[in-house]
Amino acid sequence: MPEPDLKEIAVLGCGLMGSGIAQVCAQAGYETHVLETSEERLKPGLAAIHKSWEKFAAKGVLTAEQAAAAQRRLHPTTSLRDLEKAQFVIEAVVENLAAKREVFQQLDERLPPAAIFASNTSSLSITELAASTRRPERFVGLHFFNPVPLMKLVEVARTVATDQAVFERAVAFARSLGKTPVRTGDRTGFIVNRLLVPYLLDAVRALEEGVGSIVDIDQGMKLGCGYPMGPLTLLDFVGLDTTYYIAEIMFQEFRERRFAPPPLLKRMVLAGWNGKKAGRGFYDYRQGGEPQPMNLG
Ligand code: CAA
Repeated sequence: MPEPDLKEIAVLGCGLMGSGIAQVCAQAGYETHVLETSEERLKPGLAAIHKSWEKFAAKGVLTAEQAAAAQRRLHPTTSLRDLEKAQFVIEAVVENLAAKREVFQQLDERLPPAAIFASNTSSLSITELAASTRRPERFVGLHFFNPVPLMKLVEVARTVATDQAVFERAVAFARSLGKTPVRTGDRTGFIVNRLLVPYLLDAVRALEEGVGSIVDIDQGMKLGCGYPMGPLTLLDFVGLDTTYYIAEIMFQEFRERRFAPPPLLKRMVLAGWNGKKAGRGFYDYRQGGEPQPMNLG
């Protein structure tokens, strides 16, 4: 159910995360404007949304009518002008400080002062992003998880400057999307990546040190701890480049070895073996069917 006085949402970026966020906003009843830099860049994200709605309709998660209504509420655009009525903005552009600051600054000039700004960043400082706008008190972190339409969690992060009522409004907004919000502060990695990233990096170290094979490390954690995916499968799913990038930022922030990317991860990223999206990572996805573990030498 949408929040009573909230109607228009803007989602910046229609990549893996942005498309998922736009999808859940439209599903929840919000008029959702999703921005990309070109029609070409909008296409894959919109295709993923439609595929997801087809799946949900086929499984009875949504009725065909609910999926069609959500579709009508989704407004793709390449123009900032179409976002001017947005009351809540969620940024999910590339994980790069300069790119994020630029788009926030452009919107800050166009949108009314009451609009709330949120970033889906997983590793950059919310305070630093907020400081590039004239509304740091109306700025929060809103961190979703991949795949957004299925994952229940949203981390809601406040900075020292965030107005308490704005923070609570962001929590209520996350809940209105059918998600379970958890409250956190502007600490690099928030709650989940603070705990998840050292675990994923340790799995790579265990592989480097010959503790077990790719399959055995994954089976160990899946069957021994009841995790839905083994750590190396999850690394392929999240993206080795993404994890490497987040780990580097966390290492710079905390200067602790547990956040330092292991050499094997770096080499796989250098080789372009970035996981599922690249066709190979710890597993080979190029043949289709059951992915096979790679021979990493
Ligand atoms: N929309 C609709 N359906 C979708 C979908 C989507 N976007 N994505 C996947 N599905 C479907 C699958 O196709 C599958 O359908 P079928 O049953 O018809 O084949 C169904 O959902 C369920 O998939 P699985 O059978 O693989 O079932 P599962 O129980 O393993 O669930 C999962 C999948 C939810 C991804 C689960 O494996 C899981 O929770 N994995 C861990 C994911 C995780 O940890 N994510 C966080 C990553 S960290 C992050 O995102 C933050 C960061 O900052 C890096």
